[in-house]
Amino acid sequence: MSNVGIISLGHYLPQRRLTNSDLEKMVDTTDEWITTRTGIKERRVASQGEKTSTLATLAAEEAIKNAGIDPETIDLIIVATVSPDSNFPSMACRVQRAIGAKNATAFDISAACAGYLYALTTAKQYIQSKFYKTALVIAAERITSLIDWKDRNTCVLFGDGAGACILSQVDGPGIISEYLHSEGELGDLMSVVSDESREPLSQEEMMIKMPYVVMQGKELFKVAVNSMSDAIEIAAKKAKINLSDIACVVPHQANDRIISAVAKKLEIPKEKIFVNIDRYGNMSAASIAVALYEAVDQKHIRKGDHVALVAFGAGLVSAASVFVW
Ligand code: UT7
Repeated sequence: MSNVGIISLGHYLPQRRLTNSDLEKMVDTTDEWITTRTGIKERRVASQGEKTSTLATLAAEEAIKNAGIDPETIDLIIVATVSPDSNFPSMACRVQRAIGAKNATAFDISAACAGYLYALTTAKQYIQSKFYKTALVIAAERITSLIDWKDRNTCVLFGDGAGACILSQVDGPGIISEYLHSEGELGDLMSVVSDESREPLSQEEMMIKMPYVVMQGKELFKVAVNSMSDAIEIAAKKAKINLSDIACVVPHQANDRIISAVAKKLEIPKEKIFVNIDRYGNMSAASIAVALYEAVDQKHIRKGDHVALVAFGAGLVSAASVFVW
């Protein structure tokens, strides 16, 4: 068995910004409500030509450049997304084509906001078992395409973006533990309403019956705090480290109050937790991927640090991973 680690990172964020004051003009909301209840000030929204595969490809290209590798040496591409351009071809196959990774096996993973951690863990197993040597893992979401822009309960929360990394064998410890958990029985707490769209509809009906995200925010909030806290504790225990050994926690960015509650519950100082929800909102699977990129870029994570990634999302699913950077 060999050690597997992240050797480079990449990200991409659409240029278009949607601020809370923009939303005040669209639905019955206020900057004050959004800021105090969620921590979000603005989010990015993909422009018409920017599909999920576009975001994924641009993030992948940066990760490949930073790793200094030839795309033809990539053996495996996994894209975590719940907002693909279409059901098929997969986002991973579209990225494969765009970057010329012609020797790779490519497939997608659907695990909502925990998708990046599910994809990382899956890729790690392939490399650890020596089935593949080099993997490209991407989380990309154009989640705003699944939003009902008349629903103030959801439209203020989400944004688009993508993050990527290259995984391979490393000399150091690399990824030292991971934990994945699913509770399908709680799936109704957050879902995409899309049954109608399976019928052959007229163009007019299609516009009305677009699939969109619905959620029971209050219930999700409680489950999110408990399951993310449990996931960090379990992953730290598996890594044989104390929570105080972790230099930086990079959590899924669904709500700054959820992040604060996890910090309080685990007695982790909030300064050790990386937060960028104010600028991007909830980017589903891409949240952790972009936050990890920024945490490293802004030197919240330094070489040799123990880092914990932790996520929670629709499914319901939760996950955590501990690695040495
Ligand atoms: O990505 C992973 C899955 N997602 C989550 O984990 C999200 C978890 N949940 C949350 O983050 C929070 O529950 C929300 C941010 C979604 C909502 O915050 P809340 O403090 O739980 O608010 P609430 O849903 O209980 O709503 C409180 C009030 C309601 O009005 P009434 O019934 O008290 O008169 C809502 O209608 O706030 C109202 N409200 C709003 N008001 C202004 C809901 N959305 C808005 C809004 N602007 N955008």
